[in-house]
Amino acid sequence: MFSKYVWLLPLYASIYLLYSNDYLSDIQFNFVDEWINTIKNVYTNLSRKSSSDSNTDANEKVFTSNELKRYTNLKDGLYISILGQVFDVTKGAKHYGPGATYHAFTGRDASLAFITGEFDNKGLTDDISSLSVQQVKALNEWVQFYNKNYIYKGKLNGRYYNEHGFPTEEFYNVQRILISAKEEQIEEEHKKRMFPPCNVEWKPDSGTVVWCTKRSGGIERDWVGVPRMLFESPNSKEYRCACVKLDSKEYEETKGMLREYSQCPKTSVRCAVKIENL
Ligand code: HEM
Repeated sequence: MFSKYVWLLPLYASIYLLYSNDYLSDIQFNFVDEWINTIKNVYTNLSRKSSSDSNTDANEKVFTSNELKRYTNLKDGLYISILGQVFDVTKGAKHYGPGATYHAFTGRDASLAFITGEFDNKGLTDDISSLSVQQVKALNEWVQFYNKNYIYKGKLNGRYYNEHGFPTEEFYNVQRILISAKEEQIEEEHKKRMFPPCNVEWKPDSGTVVWCTKRSGGIERDWVGVPRMLFESPNSKEYRCACVKLDSKEYEETKGMLREYSQCPKTSVRCAVKIENL
């Protein structure tokens, strides 16, 4: 029954490794916990409708798109669908009622428009294949918003759920994208912790100075690091000042994108730099 969720196993394994290795020891645990919660949410979502393979959950309504169309007025109620989850938003009538700014969301699944803000016929669609990973993540934040603030009513039979309310292949695709969004976020966070921004100061007499401390860039850590120019990519001209831990594996791996400030000793935590070197 759970065979189709086998692809989640490597994720659980990687969480275990993250906890048991030093790789993320410098990342605050609440961040890792947040990631675990995401995986759990994804898993709960997946198993909610699959725990009874042949039976539909009697308590959960599965709407047809025609049924959903009824809920666009104050008499029947105002319902919206987002990624196939249906919510009663009647209490937000000032936003969703007839004539209100977001009335177009009612009675349908217009997931795409939550991100594009395009409320024309082309924009009001549940097809989100044009969205980037980060946009899908933003869309999922809307789902969380509705779960928190409005009443969940059931599933919409269509792109994301079948007529029994079971997830479709497109639903799984979205979950995979959400997981990769989380991985990207972890990678970004890790990079920010390993290469925190330097402090910068400019004075008319001494010019510009960059320096590192155990708190520079707002990143609390037990090392100071030395200022280096960190380029976005090996061929990029864009860079920022980063504090670098010279005995770290990340330094070894990222050397190609780091450059020393000229006229600054290799291990100095403070460098006077020309303005164009900032
Ligand atoms: C992608 C574009 C946008 C989307 C999909 C969107 C969607 C929404 C939705 C669904 C709500 C209702 C939230 C609820 O149920 O409480 C809302 C509220 C609101 N939106 Fe937007 N919005 C967008 C852009 C904007 C922009 C550009 C502005 C401002 C210039 C704006 C200003 C507001 C305001 C002021 C509220 C009311 C907040 C409140 O009263 O609690 N929105 N938006």
